[in-house]
Amino acid sequence: MKENYLEELFSLKGKVALVTGAGRGIGQVIARDLARAGADIAIFSRSGAADTVKLIEEEGGKALDIIADCTKEDQVTEGFKKILEVYGRIDVVVNNAGVCYHKDIFEASVEEFRWCLDINLTGEYIVAREAARIMIEKKIAGSIINIASMSGYIANVPQRQVAYNASKAGVIHMTKSLAVELVDYNIRVNSISPGYVATPMSVDPDFVEPELLAAWEPLFPMHRMAKPEELTGAIIWLASDASHYANGTDILIDGLYTAV
Ligand SMILES: NC(=O)c1ccc[n+]([C@@H]2O[C@H](COP(=O)([O-])OP(=O)(O)OC[C@H]3O[C@@H](n4cnc5c(N)ncnc54)[C@H](O)[C@@H]3O)[C@@H](O)[C@H]2O)c1
Repeated sequence: MKENYLEELFSLKGKVALVTGAGRGIGQVIARDLARAGADIAIFSRSGAADTVKLIEEEGGKALDIIADCTKEDQVTEGFKKILEVYGRIDVVVNNAGVCYHKDIFEASVEEFRWCLDINLTGEYIVAREAARIMIEKKIAGSIINIASMSGYIANVPQRQVAYNASKAGVIHMTKSLAVELVDYNIRVNSISPGYVATPMSVDPDFVEPELLAAWEPLFPMHRMAKPEELTGAIIWLASDASHYANGTDILIDGLYTAV
C-alpha cells in the first residue's frame, strides 16, 4: 500500500470549501480545521468574520470573508460569484448558519417560528441549491454538508424550542431528499447532528440562563458538552474523498444523549 494513501484520501488540498455562519462557534472551528486539512475557505456571514479569517491566515491558509445572509437569494448568488472570481470553483459547502430560541407554542409568535425555519432550513436550501448549480455547470463532484442537530430526533428538555426542533428534523430529511435529487450529478449531500456543543448558542448567558445550564448538566451521559473540535473529524471525512459512498446520511454526534 502507498505510504501516503490515507493522507491523500483525507486531504482537502485543491478543494474550495464554503462555511456559512463561520464568524464564531462551530462554524469558526470547522472553517479553521478545513483549512488545516488543505482547503481554501470562503465564509458567508451577516456581519463579517474577520477573526476567523485571521485565524486561518496566521496558519498559512486562505480565507475569503463574504457578507451574505443565507436567507437572501440575491446575497447568496452574489456571494458565490465572489467565490468563483477569487477561487474559480466550489467543492465543499458546510451549511452551518443557524439560530435557536426558547419559547413554547403559546409564547412564540408565528413570525418567530418563521424566522427560525427561514434561517435553519430555507437558508440551507438556498445555499445548497446555488452551490449545486455551480458544481453541475463545472462538473465538480461536490460535497454538501448540512449541520442538523440531535434536536431533529428529540424534543430537548426542559426548555421549549419547537421551531428549532422542527427545523432540524427538516434539515435531516432535506439532506436525504437533496442527495436523491443530486446523485446523478455526482454531488453528495450529508448532515451531522451534534448534541450540545459549548458555543455562544449553548453557553452564552445572554442566550442561556444559568438555571437552564444547571438543568442540562445532569442530562449529559458523558458529563459535559462537546467541544466544536470534536465535530471536525466527521466534517473533514464527509468533505474528503474518503467518504465517497456516504450519501444522504446523518451522523449523530451527541455523546450518547439520545441513547439513554
Ligand atoms: N451549540 C450547540 O449546542 C449546537 C448543537 C447542535 C447543532 N448546532 C448547530 O450548529 C450550527 C452552529 O451553531 P453554533 O452553536 O456555532 O451557534 P452560534 O450562534 O455560535 O453561531 C451561529 C452563527 O450563524 C450565524 N448566522 C445566523 N443566521 C445567519 C444567516 N441568516 N446568514 C449567515 N449567518 C447567519 C450567526 O451570526 C452566528 O455567527 C447551527 O446550525 C446550530 O443549530 C449547535
